[in-house]
Amino acid sequence: MTQQAQDALLKWYEKHGRHELPWRNTDDVYHIYLSEIMLQQTQVKRVMEEYYPQFLQKFPTLKSLADAKEEEVLAAWSGLGYYSRARNLHATAKLCPDTLPQTQKELVRLPGIGRYTASAIQSFAYYQKVGVVDTNIARVIKRFFAHYKQSDDTIWKSAEEFVNPVHPTLHNQALMDLGSLICLPMNPKCEKCPFTLTCKGKGEPEFYTQKQKKVYEELELYYGIKMKNEKIALILSHGPMYKGMLELPSAEPIDEDFIAEFKHSYTKYRLTVKLYKISEVSDKAVWMDIEALANGHISSLTRKALNYVSSPLGIKGFSR
Ligand code: ADE
Repeated sequence: MTQQAQDALLKWYEKHGRHELPWRNTDDVYHIYLSEIMLQQTQVKRVMEEYYPQFLQKFPTLKSLADAKEEEVLAAWSGLGYYSRARNLHATAKLCPDTLPQTQKELVRLPGIGRYTASAIQSFAYYQKVGVVDTNIARVIKRFFAHYKQSDDTIWKSAEEFVNPVHPTLHNQALMDLGSLICLPMNPKCEKCPFTLTCKGKGEPEFYTQKQKKVYEELELYYGIKMKNEKIALILSHGPMYKGMLELPSAEPIDEDFIAEFKHSYTKYRLTVKLYKISEVSDKAVWMDIEALANGHISSLTRKALNYVSSPLGIKGFSR
């Protein structure tokens, strides 16, 4: 089945692939590396029409880039954004002014080259039999193998095993195009896909690539309200969530003292916050004017809680 899919993919690529992309018509490792860095955060069309040829005209070799001043490199990158890409490119050229290394281990040690870029260089410039996984290929792989919530390592391993042993470079280029032209995030064009007989996710493609829902941890927090002369008691938080900020003192959840309850989300926590009136407060408490606090450095949770104290329907003037 694997070989059948590999063959169908290459046939599809021959007919429908984006063979005109300039970085597919060179085996200059520097040119291919440059294209991958530019394509990391910029669309193919913009890279191809506005930046890649112009940059190469200015800096045609790694050596010319290595010899350039940083201002010149940044000027050629101007408008592309994410300027750390240009700085890393320059730093890599200085480290390797002749050519780039061929192994994953050496490539990922260079500034700005991660697992993906290293594999792309190995596959597209050095024709090695390696898997390449970018966002588009990951989507194809997840669907093809019906991987649901699998780790990145599993996706990479599947991509590795799927590589065509005879035409590894074409295989990866084809998967990239399949991901961007056919195996779309929403409403993929399965009827036009070369994997129509072999894709395990064909019946429900969007199932395998749905955004992972955030897993929340539910927590209940009890805070105390103590007012004195229009001021409210706050204490310096030592807890993991709001360390170093002023927050309401904690309280015992005693029903008769219940004031209000609200929900609040904070990082991975889904909080139920309950406010209680309290009669005692630690002598470490800081007494703060509520109106002044509104502009202070307090958490949004505390700000929400203070609404219950200061709103006309709240418990303004609450003290005993
Ligand atoms: N996006 C990232 N790398 C690419 C490549 N080599 N071809 C087309 N799109 C890409």
